Amino acid sequence: MNLFGKHLLCTQEWSVDELEAVLSLAAEMKKDRFSAKYTSLLQHKSFLMFFYNPSVRTRQSFEAAATELGGHAQYLEPSAMRLKTAKTAGEINEDAAHVMSRYGCGLGIRILEDKIQKYGDGDKFLREYCQYGTIPVVSMAHDKFHPCQGLADVQGAREKLGSIKGKKLLMVWGSGALARSWCSVQESLLINSRLGMNVTLAYPQGYDLDPEVMADVKKNCQAAGTKFEITHDQVEAYRGADIVYSRNWVTPQAYHPEKGLQKAQEIEAALKYPDWITDARKMKLTNNALFTHPMPVDRGHEVTDEVCSGPRSIIYDVAENRLHVQKAIMALTMSKFDYKPSAKPQRVAA
Ligand code: CP
Repeated sequence: MNLFGKHLLCTQEWSVDELEAVLSLAAEMKKDRFSAKYTSLLQHKSFLMFFYNPSVRTRQSFEAAATELGGHAQYLEPSAMRLKTAKTAGEINEDAAHVMSRYGCGLGIRILEDKIQKYGDGDKFLREYCQYGTIPVVSMAHDKFHPCQGLADVQGAREKLGSIKGKKLLMVWGSGALARSWCSVQESLLINSRLGMNVTLAYPQGYDLDPEVMADVKKNCQAAGTKFEITHDQVEAYRGADIVYSRNWVTPQAYHPEKGLQKAQEIEAALKYPDWITDARKMKLTNNALFTHPMPVDRGHEVTDEVCSGPRSIIYDVAENRLHVQKAIMALTMSKFDYKPSAKPQRVAA
């Protein structure tokens, strides 16, 4: 499988075979983490990480991934550079992309809702770097998608359930004080529907996600012969779920045309729905579902401590899997690793 030089902005843009190659290699890398097969794939190479927003998991897991592959990850903060913005003079993306391509083997970019004027601007920004750069660009979470998170979600679910085909994913909005992006949620809906899950999306009236992405989720389910439903009845939504994924996200009106993200207003609105929380009572309606979340978790709003730290929670496994899927992505797109997928998904103790 030759993925050398391929950008990863959203899993929907890769074929299922390509995604399965990443997942298969990630599983092998997890089992045999420091094998000599992998430890010099990025020897003498630098992965550039361009962070507009803070991060715990993404930064640490990419740094660890580069180290474990024998390379180095360089942390770049736009505030320490002189880039042109809507309000300031400076270097344009075209020049920055050309120059970065002369140094690195790959470029990761994170740009989220509070660093853009309107939804879609972050996606455009990444695509400009893809257009002008000559090294693979990986989204480290942007306003629309979070592909590494989606892949780690699938790896975590398969480790516990074996196949996820035909199982039910409940994606449920949660109250919260963090005004979260649509990226993780949209990515998870796309990849899980693509890989054969039935999908139920539950949220209060007014919290619609991107209609174009929802159309793709619907198409994925039609192609897989599975069900996609949107409901505002959260209690019914939990019935029969195999995986419950709770997450806060902002409304489609979150961006003011001049002022950008209206964070305080979004938080005030979200906190009016304290009953939109994943708790043990609702989890009892499920098919003994796993609980997952991309983290950081807003405990007490999105989910109770009891569920989040309970025996069916896989949040730390999924967070760990960020390392393994990112190592696989880097090996496949940034090194000439000749990989032939062989591994089947592994089931471990649930
Ligand atoms: N899930 C995730 O991307 O976490 P961080 O924001 O901490 O990187």
